[in-house]
Amino acid sequence: MEKNKAINEVFEIPVAERRFVDEKNLKFKRKIIFLSPFLIFFFSFMGLLLKNNFEINNFTIGKSDSRILGHLPYEETSKEELVFIEPNIWVHKDMSQSLIRMRQDAKREGVDLVFLSGYRSIKLQKDIFYSLKSIRNQDASERARVSAPPGYSEHSTGFAIDIGDANYREADFEVEFENTAAFRWLKLNAAKYHFKLSFNKNNEHIDYEPWHWRYEGSIEALKVFETANRDLQNISK
Ligand code: DAL
Ligand code: ZN
Repeated sequence: MEKNKAINEVFEIPVAERRFVDEKNLKFKRKIIFLSPFLIFFFSFMGLLLKNNFEINNFTIGKSDSRILGHLPYEETSKEELVFIEPNIWVHKDMSQSLIRMRQDAKREGVDLVFLSGYRSIKLQKDIFYSLKSIRNQDASERARVSAPPGYSEHSTGFAIDIGDANYREADFEVEFENTAAFRWLKLNAAKYHFKLSFNKNNEHIDYEPWHWRYEGSIEALKVFETANRDLQNISK
């Protein structure tokens, strides 16, 4: 008898314990089921907050920090990508035909476009920036209003062109260029040839350059200017 009693006790104890654990589990599961919509909502909301925060930080810290004195960095294009247009004017092969067609079409309408500067190596940009800065006794931020530091010029990509009016050369590289027939024609027609004015009047750090146009008519060119175009939508340059 004593032996049987001992055996029953051994069996009863674990059965009683198992029931207790099951009830606890059931309550816990019910709680989870009841709370799951709130948990899903909470974690989705937190995820969205983190994502937005990351994008804002990436934009405000990452992108704006890569600028120097308001200029974005640009890699120098390789010589193989360049095409000769005329003495002293080389441009990226993607834009050469469009550029020539634009000048021909303007000519047909009585407007004479002159190409003043196309591709510039980083070395040439360095000379332009530092030599003129010194000759004109300018500090870096003053100089950067009119000239990009080396490694930061659209000209080094081969996708930028400075344009003048053949009948009004006094306006070359001057804001006065905006009063020429060439500028009026470009304003009306440049987009047809995928050219866009790079430095408009709203730019906080860089002076208005009505003569400086960049090409955005190929995927490569669009990639090169992606940050510049994205920044324009987010902040006033
Ligand atoms: N003048 C423009 C900003 C350049 O130097 O690229
Ligand atoms: Zn230019």
